[in-house]
Amino acid sequence: MVRTFSGAASGTEGRQLRLQRLLLAWFRTDARPLAWRRTRDPYAILVSEIMLQQTQAERVEPFYENFLLEFPDVRSLAQASRAAVLRAWGGLGYNRRAVSLHQAARTIVDRHGGRVPADLDDLLALPGVGAYTARAVMAFAFGADVAPVDVNVARILARAVTGQPMSRAQTQHLADDLVPAGQAAEWTSALMDLGAHYCTSRVPRCGACPVAATCAWRGGGSAADEASDPAAAAGRARAPEAFAGSDRYHRGRLVDTLRRGPVDTDGLPRAADLDDTGRLAALTRTLVDDGLAEWSDGSLQLPGS
Ligand code: ADE
Repeated sequence: MVRTFSGAASGTEGRQLRLQRLLLAWFRTDARPLAWRRTRDPYAILVSEIMLQQTQAERVEPFYENFLLEFPDVRSLAQASRAAVLRAWGGLGYNRRAVSLHQAARTIVDRHGGRVPADLDDLLALPGVGAYTARAVMAFAFGADVAPVDVNVARILARAVTGQPMSRAQTQHLADDLVPAGQAAEWTSALMDLGAHYCTSRVPRCGACPVAATCAWRGGGSAADEASDPAAAAGRARAPEAFAGSDRYHRGRLVDTLRRGPVDTDGLPRAADLDDTGRLAALTRTLVDDGLAEWSDGSLQLPGS
């Protein structure tokens, strides 16, 4: 039988309802007790989602809690210096996210009276906020029936619902359709937990999966191998790039050192663990361009304002 995307869709309706029922039932007993699930404060949700953009939930938690202790609301963050924000960001990495979040807080104060906007387009206009993060804030903070789609959600939908690879637009459309009315926050969290525990990228745990009974991929009788995986193209994590010795590694070392105080020109190679002066100069320039460092009296330091 030839199965087209639309042909599969007619059979997906019952599957969608079963998926909703099974997944929400499982989530009600097995949800991860993550710190940002205890709040609906839009600011706290925005902080969590920016931190979660490139970092796993369990690693984010302590940084999230410390950051909110230091900057409990939008105004306290907007008023802080960039140096203070970068220090509070600590060792979470991808430090440009801290700069974006700080700028977003200032924009929220300047343009939105200090309240995180409850509007998708206004959120998308904030620095560091893309399609995923804007929808996550809408769903988690404001309960809007929208679906944040990241690689994990895309993978689950391709496997469990259609059993076929989908374009980005098809995935977003299906994801929006699937949100049970009024339950966007719970539903999105449930999908994330399923992706973290069972419907993982490389070795999915189909034998123990709470939605296996309604999974299109499993229902096709396939072994959960890469050759038959409908998410093979879209939803598999890329092999991680080597981190040690990379530009990102050395930039991170420099910012870590600057958190402890300014460094003069002689100290830069030790700060970055890098003797190649040409590369060191180029990396330092990128930090200054990205607003992560500034020169002052021959020393490199975290930006003051
Ligand atoms: N990844 C991105 N957002 C998340 C969230 N709210 N909970 C768990 N993992 C996430």
